[in-house]
Amino acid sequence: MIKKAIILCGGTGSRLFPSTISSNKQLLPIYDKPLIFYPLSVLMLAKIKNILIIVNKGQLEQYKKLLSSGKDLGIKISFQEQDKPRGLPDAFIIGEKFINDNNVAMILGDNFFYGQNLSKLLLECAKIKSGAKIILHSVQNPEQFGIAKIDKKSKKIIKIFEKPKRFISNNAITGLYFFDNKVIKYAKKIKPSKRGELEIIDLLNKYKKNNKLYSETIGRGGAWLDTGSISDYYKTSAFVQAIENRQGLKIACLEEISLLNGWIGKKQILNRINFYGNCEYSNYLKKLLKNK
Ligand code: TTP
Repeated sequence: MIKKAIILCGGTGSRLFPSTISSNKQLLPIYDKPLIFYPLSVLMLAKIKNILIIVNKGQLEQYKKLLSSGKDLGIKISFQEQDKPRGLPDAFIIGEKFINDNNVAMILGDNFFYGQNLSKLLLECAKIKSGAKIILHSVQNPEQFGIAKIDKKSKKIIKIFEKPKRFISNNAITGLYFFDNKVIKYAKKIKPSKRGELEIIDLLNKYKKNNKLYSETIGRGGAWLDTGSISDYYKTSAFVQAIENRQGLKIACLEEISLLNGWIGKKQILNRINFYGNCEYSNYLKKLLKNK
């Protein structure tokens, strides 16, 4: 099982300017909690406990203030800075020491996943021993995404396209990936594209060339939302609000997931309540303890 993962929380967030001029996108709230809680919760659902968060230069302290070492969340968090947005594969160059000789998952800090079978799918993906696995989700406007054409039987990727002008498939490549240890070697071989960034498509193509690029698809019962544009950012907030208020259950409550995983107990939850103070999120944690 994959035991280590990276969350990429750098970037400029220029589509959300001016809101992201002085604050990092992943620290802005999606409804009732910071955006980073959502990708972090996805990794925790995959039972991954050892997590490296990559942040922009100068933003480390803000992240540490929110998450510290992760001890009270039952996980181990470390941080590294990216001095400028060099592209997604840069994560594996920055994170080389952290990854060491392990396999690794990577999730973009601004990606939101939700759905009934999500945990099962994540645990399946974390089993990967060799090659890479990407997560696909159907979209209405494939011309705006990285798109994959798959062999339905083997789930192997036949071809990937960046924002294809003519229709190829609806399967968008989401911001969640599972890699074997070769990812470090491959990331180092990639050359920057015309826009001056290392491109994730180039990294995935290295696996495809070796016939080692696999996929899982989030079915229609699941949601994948990207919070990068102003409109998507608010749509995601509205989605969380609608589900949480209907069910009385929170999406991406880190303490709840950790409690269910058996990683923390009452003491750590009380520490988190104390840390958050008197707020609605704390009230939810108090309710969890009562029902335990
Ligand atoms: P993007 O959405 O490609 O870029 P961005 O967040 O800077 O936003 P904008 O396009 O509005 O300027 O990034 C996707 C995710 O990856 C996001 O969570 C930020 C992160 N990221 C890094 O951490 N480092 C990088 O070098 C890049 C390119 C992105």
